[in-house]
Formats: sequence, structure tokens, C-alpha cells
Amino acid sequence: MNGELHVFNSTDELFHAAAAKFVEAARSAVTARSRFTVALAGGGTPQTLYELLATEPYRSQVEWSKVEWFWGDERAVGPDDPESNYRMARLALLSQIDADASRVHRLRGEAEPLTAAADEYERELVRVFGTPADGPPPSFDLVLLGMGGDGHTASLFPFTAALDEQKRWVTVNDVPQLNARRLTMTYPLLNAAASVVFLVTGVGKAKVLREVLKGPHDPRRLPSQAVRPAGSLHWYVDHPAAGQLE
Ligand code: 6PG
Repeated sequence: MNGELHVFNSTDELFHAAAAKFVEAARSAVTARSRFTVALAGGGTPQTLYELLATEPYRSQVEWSKVEWFWGDERAVGPDDPESNYRMARLALLSQIDADASRVHRLRGEAEPLTAAADEYERELVRVFGTPADGPPPSFDLVLLGMGGDGHTASLFPFTAALDEQKRWVTVNDVPQLNARRLTMTYPLLNAAASVVFLVTGVGKAKVLREVLKGPHDPRRLPSQAVRPAGSLHWYVDHPAAGQLE
């Protein structure tokens, strides 16, 4: 199996553990480098985590002014669209802890063309991490990811072109399954992370989780399988989602 599996008795326990993990990663990064770089997951699952981080005892344990906020992916929508991953995190956490706007690095899903937003995000990564554009991808202190019922993560969907991207750090991905275009971090960037945490809950994810963690390596069909970070990989899973794992 790829990574360390943590099965929790309830989603409540899972999100408290995930909040503690976020705090621990933030505190050690700030102690070591006076900042914490994090790529947030979108979708529905992480919202509870973000809301929890805005409350005690977690809220007062993070130096929020030292956090550099990024997103692993974004829909092709503006920041106020109900579909926006940025909007979800802003409402659940960033607005609650009064995040430093200069450190909130939003993927501009409204950009025309959308590729301009991917180019711009790569330039922002170069600027914030201080890495050369033609060098290796920067290493996030923490990347949070969800996983869809089809095994996708971020906006790396089965059999889509972004799965093959080995040079760019951020790209536009055409997702025929959704009849949509998405912005997404690519495997080179995700896999450069010091720590990656997947958050997977609910019985609806049980079958795909078994395939991803225990089945044959088939990352074109199960893109989450190709998340193999240089650093640590943790799967935070509740009992229902773990129901088909031995
Ligand atoms: C998105 C997410 C996506 C999400 C999975 C799981 O933009 O939708 O980045 O990768 O993590 O689809 O979504 P849920 O957590 O809502 O099941």
C-alpha cells in the first residue's frame, strides 16, 4: 500500500485528527521557515475540516499570518460562484481567521483563456517559493486532497490529459466526464510535497478506496494511485469508507 492508512471510528474523529495534523504541520513549518505553505482540497469533504480549524482549540494554535494559501484545483468559475473551491474555503476558514489577502493565492477560474490562469499560478508559485521556473517543482509543506468515487483527485480525472503532464506544475484539464474544464495541480507538483493527506469519508467511497489502496496499479483509471509524494502520505478515512478494506 502507498502511504499510511488511518481509519477513524467517526467523521468527527477524522476531522479532529486532520485538524491536529494541519496544526502540527503549520507549527513545525513556521518554526523551521517562518511560514507554512498549504494546498487546499476542494469538493465537499474538507469543508468540515476548514470550519473546525476556525474554532478552538485549533484556531489559536496556528500563526495564520504566516500561512501561504494555495488550492490544488479549481473549477472554471469565478470566486463567488457556489461551485468555487476558493469560495468554500474562504467562507469556512479564510474569512473566519482573517487570512492575509496577500498570501491567499487563488486559481482564477474565471480567466479567459483558462490557460492564462495556469500560467499565472505557476508564476505565483515561483514568486512565493522563490524557486526558478525551470527548476524542480516547489515542495508544499502540506497538500490536502479529496478523492472522488471514480478515483480522481484534485482535477486529475481518469483517462484525462493532465495525468500525462510531467513538466507543468499547474494545467488546464478537459474533463469530458463533467463536460467541463478544470484548473489543477499536476503530479510533479503534488508529488514534490513534504506531506500529503487524503480525506476520504462515506460508504460511497468504499469500493474505489479498496481499488486504489489494494488493487492493481492502474493510475490512468485510478488517478489517486499516482500520488506518491517525496514526503509522507497519509489516508484519513472513516469506517464507512474503509468498509471494503480487510
Ligand atoms: C473538486 C475537488 C475534488 C474532490 C473530489 C472529492 O474540485 O471537486 O478537488 O478532487 O476532492 O471530487 O469530492 P468530495 O470530497 O466532495 O467527495
